[in-house]
Amino acid sequence: MDIGIDKIGFYTPKKYIDIVELAKARNVDPDKFTIGIGQSKQSVPMQYQDSVTMAAEAADQIISDDDNIGLVIVGTESSVDESKAVAAFLTDLLNLPKNIRAFEIKEACYGATAGLKMAEGYVALNPDKKALVIASDIARYGINTPGEVTQGAGSVAMMVSQNPRILKFDHEEVYMTKNVGDFWRPTFSKTAFARGKFSNQVYVEFFSELWKKYQTDFNQTVNNFDTMLFHIPYTKMGMKALKTLKDETDLDKFAELSEHYQASIKMSREVGNLYTGSLYLGLISYLINGDPKPGEKILMFSYGSGAVGELYSVTIQPEFRRILDSEKIKKVLNNREKISISEYENIFAKDLQNGDSINDSDVFDKFYLREIKESERLYKKIKL
Ligand code: HMG
Repeated sequence: MDIGIDKIGFYTPKKYIDIVELAKARNVDPDKFTIGIGQSKQSVPMQYQDSVTMAAEAADQIISDDDNIGLVIVGTESSVDESKAVAAFLTDLLNLPKNIRAFEIKEACYGATAGLKMAEGYVALNPDKKALVIASDIARYGINTPGEVTQGAGSVAMMVSQNPRILKFDHEEVYMTKNVGDFWRPTFSKTAFARGKFSNQVYVEFFSELWKKYQTDFNQTVNNFDTMLFHIPYTKMGMKALKTLKDETDLDKFAELSEHYQASIKMSREVGNLYTGSLYLGLISYLINGDPKPGEKILMFSYGSGAVGELYSVTIQPEFRRILDSEKIKKVLNNREKISISEYENIFAKDLQNGDSINDSDVFDKFYLREIKESERLYKKIKL
């Protein structure tokens, strides 16, 4: 039985900052941010947004009444509660059926991949059911930190089913885990701590080690792939891993892989790091901006600091162009408004506190955090 991704939705907040303006505000040469790091814009979530509201926005785009959903998993490292799962909040907002398993998975940027793998197993045992896997995160390092230029926010929702119409999982996968201190966010902090350059090094080492294992386990070389997609914390990062393959292939093949990589980073360049959704935003970007072909095999590199890495392959399905709503996804990116660096800094400084509420009239999204009352987060869906 073929199992894989049948539908994909994407959401990112409607405000963004310009990276050149950020560089100027931080007294940095703009080329460092636009060329050295490779970012152009950065999505800024509003006070009423979090991993719940963004997950709802992305999932709302792909859920239909006839989906027989039995499992909902949210991968996130910017959860809103130490106990209640983001997925539980979604049941009301999205009118999900009662007889589902709904929970949250955390392992940095690896969470959504863990969710997809679990979903694959679930569908294998329950072929008539579907599993909704959502990656939803706000990436935050803090004002004037080295990581600030790599922040971002957004969500990717994926429906996993049998006979998938976008991608099939090939069941060729290698994975590894090591206790590494490259990046972490303690429960008391809303911003992450990173050993930036060390994290880059660990990312590349994980890729190299997994690639060696993948080749041995599945008897394949670079020439078996036209496309390799990477977790994209910032758009230069995946290229550092791809470049390690230069000596293993001829110039034409490397040029093809690089060209496909460029198509995969277009959207991340405009959004920033989605943490666990970043690899899947890269996938969406490649499917929309590249030259993907039915039957094409893609190697996916998922990396979550801390650290877990997985390399696995998928195959593009014949109907993918008809099913992926490219126009809707492009609209999400294009219908955004630029805000100034000082507006962003104000938003950054103000989280909704216990006792605070939001007026409907200040909201320009479908789902929002309406109020925090007795320390409980209460959400609302606006009928647009
Ligand atoms: P930094 O110290 O600001 O930057 O940190 P740098 O000095 O290393 O410079 C960056 C690049 O810009 C360098 O190029 C410079 O040469 C170049 P590279 O050597 O990398 O090719 N540069 C210039 N280029 C053009 N014109 C100029 C110029 N000046 C310098 N004038 C760093 C950068 C990414 C480390 C920082 O932003 C950071 O700490 N980010 C957060 C951590 C991160 O994203 N790590 C990525 C790997 S870990 C991961 O992916 C997991 C993660 O997503 C978390 C999770 O799993 O949950 C982060």
